[in-house]
Amino acid sequence: MSDQSTPTADHSTFYTPSAEVMSRARVQNWEALKAESDADPMGFWAARANELGWYQKWDTVLDDSNKPFFKWFVGGKTNIVHNAIDRHQSTHRKNKLAYIWEGEDGSQRFVSFAELNTEVSKFANVLKSLGVKKGDRVTIYMGRVVELPIAMLACAKLGAIHSVVYGGFSTEALKGRILDSQSTVLITCDGANVSGKRIELKAICDGAIDAESPIKTMVVYKRTGHDVPMVEGRDFWWHDLMKNASPKCETEVMDAEDPMFILYTSGSTGKPKALVHTHGGYSVYTYTTFRYVFDIQDEDRYWCAADPGWITGHSYIVYAPLMNGATSIIYEGGPSYPAPDRWWNIVAKYGVTILYTAPTAIRGLMRFGADWPAKHDLSSLRLLGSVGEPINPEAWRWFYENIGGSRCPIMDTWWQTETGGFMITPMPVVPLKPGSGTRPFFTLKAEIVDENGEAVAPETEGYLTILGPWPGMARTIYGDSARYAQTYWSRFPGRYFTGDSARMDKDGYYWIIGRVDDVLKVSGYRFGTAEIESALVSHPAVAEAAVIGLPHEVRGNAIYGYVLLRQGHNDSPELREELRAHVAKLVGPIAKPEKVTIVDRLPKTRSGKIMRRLLKAREQGLPEGDISTLEE
Ligand code: WTA
Repeated sequence: MSDQSTPTADHSTFYTPSAEVMSRARVQNWEALKAESDADPMGFWAARANELGWYQKWDTVLDDSNKPFFKWFVGGKTNIVHNAIDRHQSTHRKNKLAYIWEGEDGSQRFVSFAELNTEVSKFANVLKSLGVKKGDRVTIYMGRVVELPIAMLACAKLGAIHSVVYGGFSTEALKGRILDSQSTVLITCDGANVSGKRIELKAICDGAIDAESPIKTMVVYKRTGHDVPMVEGRDFWWHDLMKNASPKCETEVMDAEDPMFILYTSGSTGKPKALVHTHGGYSVYTYTTFRYVFDIQDEDRYWCAADPGWITGHSYIVYAPLMNGATSIIYEGGPSYPAPDRWWNIVAKYGVTILYTAPTAIRGLMRFGADWPAKHDLSSLRLLGSVGEPINPEAWRWFYENIGGSRCPIMDTWWQTETGGFMITPMPVVPLKPGSGTRPFFTLKAEIVDENGEAVAPETEGYLTILGPWPGMARTIYGDSARYAQTYWSRFPGRYFTGDSARMDKDGYYWIIGRVDDVLKVSGYRFGTAEIESALVSHPAVAEAAVIGLPHEVRGNAIYGYVLLRQGHNDSPELREELRAHVAKLVGPIAKPEKVTIVDRLPKTRSGKIMRRLLKAREQGLPEGDISTLEE
C-alpha cells in the first residue's frame, strides 16, 4: 500500500541525548507529563492557553457538539499578533532581536521586536488605506525577505486572512489560489535571489492576473532592484506606501475561532485546497509545541531553514518563535551558494543553537561531503530538527555526527499543513531511534489501523489515524466544509485520517512510511499527481497524461509523466523537453518531471482508472503483479 520507499529502519538502537542537553531541558519527566496530559487534555490545554495573553478568557476549552467541526477556547478574544509582538513591547524583549536576516548576496538585517512592531503597524496601516478589512483575503507571494513575515503579521493584526503562496510556485498555481481565495490585494517582490539566479516574482504575478482576477492592488517590495513594469493605478511600491504610514495601529480583537490564515496544499484532486487556521487554537498549539520540542530559551538563536511560505514557516519561522520571544535567522538563498558550506558558515557566524531543516536538504548537502561542515565551528548547536518526509537513517546519522557533533538530538517532527503543528515528535529528553518521530505529543493519541479501521498489531504497516481533536487542527477547507469532512473524517469515522501509512514498533515508536493517497513529496513539497497531470494536459500536444512518483536519492520523490499525444503530434526529444518545461512554468520548477515518456496508451482498469502501480513497476523494471483488472 505504500507509495514511497521505506527507509531501512533499525528498530532496536536508541540514541540517548547527552547529559548536558537533558539536564537543561524544560520538560524533564516526559513520561509523567505525557500520562498526566493524556488523562486530562482539557486541563493541559487550558493551562497552556493561560500562558498566553487574551483580551478575554474563553468560556469553554473545547466544543465538540458539531463533529468534525471542533471549536477551541470558545468565547475567548485574542489576536495572534497580540502574543507574537504586542505583549513583548512592555518587557525586555522589546530590544531583543526577532529576526537576523542574511541575503544571498551577504547583506544583513537585524530587526528587534520593537522594530518589528513598527514595521508591522505601518504596513497594517498601508493595507487599511488600500481598503483591507477584517475577514478579507490577501495573497502574499514573496521571496525570503523580512517583509514576508511583516506582511503576514500585518494581515493578522487587522484580522485579514493571509494566503501565502510559496515563491517556488508558478503562474497557474498562483492564479488558481488567488481565484479560489478571492483576494483583492497581492503582495510581492520585484524578484528573489536564489542559488545565483533571479526569480521573476513580479513577472509571475503579472502573468497570474487576467481580466477575471479579483486582484485590485499589487504591492511590490523592492529586493533585486531590476526594472519591472508597474501598472498605473494597480501596482505600488512598498517603500512609497510605507513612507507616510503611521507607526501606530490598534490590533484587532478577534474571536478565538476567527480564521487567521488559509494555506493551500495539494490533495488527491487537481484542485488545491486551502486549510483554515484560527487565531486562538493555532496560537496555543504552535506556542506550546515549539516551547517543549525545541526547548526554546531566551538566549537561543534558532534557525528554521524552511520557507515561510510553507506551513513549517508559518508555524515555526513566524508565529511560534515570535510568541515565544525567540530570535530567528532567515536566510534568503540557496544552501550551497556560492559554496556548499553556506549554511555552516551561517550557523557559525550567528551562533545558531537550534537548526531545523528537511531531509532533502540534508541529503543534498551530504553529497558534498563532511569536509565542508568540518571547516566551521558548529559547537553553538544544541538541538537539530527534521521535517517534511521520512528521514532515512543514513541522512540522520550524517546530520547527527557531522553537524550536531554527536551531541545534539534530532527532533524528527511528523506533522502536516492540516495539523498546524508537531504531532509525533521527540523532545530533548526522549531517547531517539534514527528515522522515527518517536511518540505522539502531549494529549495526542495516534493509532495505526487496517482497511476496516481496526488497530493493527505492533510492527504491522497500516493507516495512521489520530484520535480526538487538538487545538492546532485546521478547522475546515476554505469554502468547502463538505470536502473537509469527507477527506479527513469519513474514511475512519470518529478519527482524523492523515493520508500516511506507518508502523508502530514494540517500544511504541512510530515510523512513517509515506503517503497512501495521490500526494507526492518532492524535496519536501507537496504535489498532487492530478495537479501535474492537468498541467501536462493543458499543453496543446497532449491528449491524456498520468503521473507517478518514484524514489529519488536527494529529493525523496521524483515525478515521472506518461503522455498520450493528440493526433498530428509526434514524439521527439524536443517535445518531451518542452513538456517538462511546461510543467515547471505552470506549477513550479520543483514540479518539473524527471522524465516524460510518450506512450500509445495508458494502462487503465476497466472502470477507467489509471493503474499507476503498473506504470511504476514498468519504469523500475519490476514484476507487474496482478493485472487482472487491466482493460484491453
Ligand atoms: C510528510 C509538512 C515523515 C507526511 C509539515 C505528511 C513526514 C506530509 C514528516 C505533510 C516526518 C512531514 N517524517 N514524514 N517528520 N513530516 N511528513 O502538509 O507524509 O507539507 O503527511 O506538512 O509530509 O506535508 P505538509
